Amino acid sequence: MNAFVMPANPRPVSDRTVPAPVLGWALIGREEEELVLEVLRRKALFRYYGPDPASPPPMVSTLERELATMIGTRFALGVTSGSAALEVALGALGVGPGDEVILPAWSWVSCFTAIVRVGGKPVLAEVDRSLCLAPGEITRLRTARTKAALVVHFQGVAADLDALVAEARQAGIALLEDCAESPGASYRGRRVGSFGDIAIFSFQQQKTITSGEGGAVVTNDPRLYERAVRMHDLGQYRDFHARQKPAAEPAFCGSQFRMAELTGAVALAQLRKVDAVRAHCRRLSLRLRAQLADLPGLQARHIPDPEGESGFETYYWVASTEQRDVYRARLKDAKIPCEQMTGTYAQYRRAYVETGLAHAPGATPFPVGGVWPAQGYRAEDFPRTEDLIHRFIVIPVGVWHREDDMDTIAAVIRRTHDELNPK
Ligand SMILES: Cc1ncc(COP(=O)(O)O)c(C=O)c1O
Repeated sequence: MNAFVMPANPRPVSDRTVPAPVLGWALIGREEEELVLEVLRRKALFRYYGPDPASPPPMVSTLERELATMIGTRFALGVTSGSAALEVALGALGVGPGDEVILPAWSWVSCFTAIVRVGGKPVLAEVDRSLCLAPGEITRLRTARTKAALVVHFQGVAADLDALVAEARQAGIALLEDCAESPGASYRGRRVGSFGDIAIFSFQQQKTITSGEGGAVVTNDPRLYERAVRMHDLGQYRDFHARQKPAAEPAFCGSQFRMAELTGAVALAQLRKVDAVRAHCRRLSLRLRAQLADLPGLQARHIPDPEGESGFETYYWVASTEQRDVYRARLKDAKIPCEQMTGTYAQYRRAYVETGLAHAPGATPFPVGGVWPAQGYRAEDFPRTEDLIHRFIVIPVGVWHREDDMDTIAAVIRRTHDELNPK
């Protein structure tokens, strides 16, 4: 793998403005251009074959090899998006009608919808002060129908994996890690994505590294790998994969979520930059947090393994929603971005949960008729999550930020803290 060195000053904006918190796309340059041009010159845009049978297209396969090496799994599979990766992983695990999957109530849209798309029933769980699935929830919510738990490593921070892995093992269910927002993050020295039975990544534009759209599935389990390949390629299992793991599973009806070579080229160049992005953001976030550590009115996010986090977003809880609004207003007045980088929602407030519908009446896992939203799908069923999600402030950090931006942001937060907590 080629080492990428962060440019001394990747920032194109005015020195006096705290920049937007941009990530991988802002580092698109010569490395991406060269690989994309290579694909075009070969005229081989499809990952499995091109005009020259003697020279198979290399981009997606190289991305898979380098991703598996980085994460520390036996297998990786490129797919069309993180949402597709979730459906592929759930399909590989055999989740279908009658099966339940536990997931954090505070998560991205497709964490919920992918489960419904494969016919399973999403079961919402509380998050804790890490903003990831709370330990204890798998045990509390597990039933005889539970097939898997979906753990989201929310914005660069690994969830409390010691506890969650132990609970899933104890419950006898599979663990699916959603690393869409945390590529490169680690937990106790191991990369996220290598702890569960299977894991997914996203390369959408807003993510740490990007190919516009794109995603990947990783696993150590040969059976899950074969099933994931079949799920993403219309049930087929081509020679390329059979050379890595001989076919042993029956064919079944899959979807078509194959990654294209152009996507693979950009994702590969970006993958080689992920650690540089992470190191930059982490260094700056630590500087910001050090300057705010003595303020009693700010409660920091719990980070189960502080050594392994990425530092893309720093969270503080303040006393009330009203105080949060004052902090946000002061930050905005100072032209400091203070929005979350990735949309994350309380699933029970989304329209698809409020209706409980799937694409056809018979496809919803929820009872048709009767009271809806039922218990487990209403805001009042999630007191811990509700207490957390309306009173935090967030400081996103990206590759255009520098040390002096952290000092500017810290000064505004400190001033606001003193205004709200007079001595
Ligand atoms: C936690 C999480 N999972 C899955 C996805 C889906 O990824 P994509 O947008 O590539 O479909 C996202 C994207 O926002 C995400 O944040």
